[in-house]
Amino acid sequence: MSVFLQFIKSISIIDVIKLVMYLALFCNFSNAITDVKTQLHAFPEKISWINWEQSKDFKFNPDATFDTMEMIKREGYPAETHVVTTEDGYLLVLHRIPGGNNSLPVLLQHAVLCTSADWIILGKGKALAYLLADQGYDVWLGNFRGNTYSRAHISLSPLELKFWDFSFHEMGIYDLPAMIKFITNMKSQPLHTYVGHSMGTTSFYVMASERPEIARMVQKMINFAPGVFIDKVESALKYINPFLREFKIIMRLFFHDELLPQNDFLKFTSKYICPQNFITQQLCASIIFLICGNDPEQFNYTLLPVILGVDPAGTSTKTFLHFNQINHASKFRQYDYGREKNLLMYNSPEPPDYNLANTTLPIALFYGLGDLLVNIVNVKRLYRILPNVIDLYEVPWRKFNHVDFIWAKDAPKLVYERVIKIMRNENLNNVTSTK
Ligand SMILES: *[C@@H]1O[C@H](CO)[C@@H](O)[C@H](O)[C@H]1NC(C)=O
Ligand SMILES: *[C@@H]1O[C@H](CO)[C@@H](O)[C@H](O)[C@H]1NC(C)=O
Ligand SMILES: *[C@@H]1O[C@H](CO)[C@@H](O)[C@H](O)[C@H]1NC(C)=O
Repeated sequence: MSVFLQFIKSISIIDVIKLVMYLALFCNFSNAITDVKTQLHAFPEKISWINWEQSKDFKFNPDATFDTMEMIKREGYPAETHVVTTEDGYLLVLHRIPGGNNSLPVLLQHAVLCTSADWIILGKGKALAYLLADQGYDVWLGNFRGNTYSRAHISLSPLELKFWDFSFHEMGIYDLPAMIKFITNMKSQPLHTYVGHSMGTTSFYVMASERPEIARMVQKMINFAPGVFIDKVESALKYINPFLREFKIIMRLFFHDELLPQNDFLKFTSKYICPQNFITQQLCASIIFLICGNDPEQFNYTLLPVILGVDPAGTSTKTFLHFNQINHASKFRQYDYGREKNLLMYNSPEPPDYNLANTTLPIALFYGLGDLLVNIVNVKRLYRILPNVIDLYEVPWRKFNHVDFIWAKDAPKLVYERVIKIMRNENLNNVTSTK
């Protein structure tokens, strides 16, 4: 009983608001409601079945430690942490599974509200970071400003508004250049491959547009659910639009513009509530399905405590607003400050578009048909603009969703095998469709 009481005590209004916003951020609500109904039907009639007494004997799974370094070491790999400083003073943590002397460097970059840990959650023999290490690559895992690992700055505190005055634009023009320069300097060779998931691709395209000299240090790029055009989807982004003003005010007043960091409520839930029994597992998992699309077959319930222990990992409100803007405008362009400030900032009433057409490095685009945010129409639009797409790949699983790229049971077979082939310049069978 005490665990239950502790749980209730750990909930505050703020947590509830945060949770709702988190859901709103990713989900397609209309789909989601259907999903919830389906989920609820799957529940036994009485939720009071939950045996809270059991919690006394409940032994917490020691694997549910959420530190990337420790998780890597526990799997028996060497792990390193490096801190890089961006030109505008943010301190970013790069995790690394170092390769041998002549190993080729690859950088894996996480999605919004995620961290380096997402690349290892599936565990040894499955997670992309380990598979690449097994192939002899020098594996680097980045952390964008504002997430659990990169909440530091040479002079600003994360409690200040100014710290959170960034979007994926700054991640593209400062964070990625800092990481890529650090790796290529250390290795004295270009980055062999950049793998981005969702926002990890968004910021890369910002960099390719605004800092092409850095993009030239990268030899190949692989996209999981490229987040460049994100309109024409049944996304929850549109449901938050009527409340955008209130959203901004709440975020500023209560959260100094920080969006959904890891917190005690989530930690507690993931540690003590979700793994309790079948029902709590289902409840927790349905939250994930709400957020990302319903794909229970690919979801490994055992990983739930680890996933919730890692994500959401925090970002700025401005990042969310910038995504919301490109969704609205149906254009991949810089932050819209409103007509007057745009004139000052950009010398034009509208923000300038990012230049995608000059992104000349070889690019592979992977997408899933169950993805609520990045759909096939958007990916094809990007495909037609990019000059050098070497692979356009629809993951052969009908419900494959936005996070299946990192968490799906069959991600190794459905996705990573092909990633490794592309990295090794091996022949792909069903190669790109026509434009
Ligand atoms: C790697 O390089 C270091 C020094 O540069 C050398 O001592 C070591 O033997 C090398 N290891 C391998 C496996 O070649
Ligand atoms: C983009 O490419 C076009 C033609 O290939 C070239 O004229 C232009 O200068 C390039 N722009 C940038 C920003 O590199
Ligand atoms: C689910 O995750 C657990 C814990 O990592 C693992 O032991 C198990 O093999 C996974 N199941 C599948 C089907 O991938």
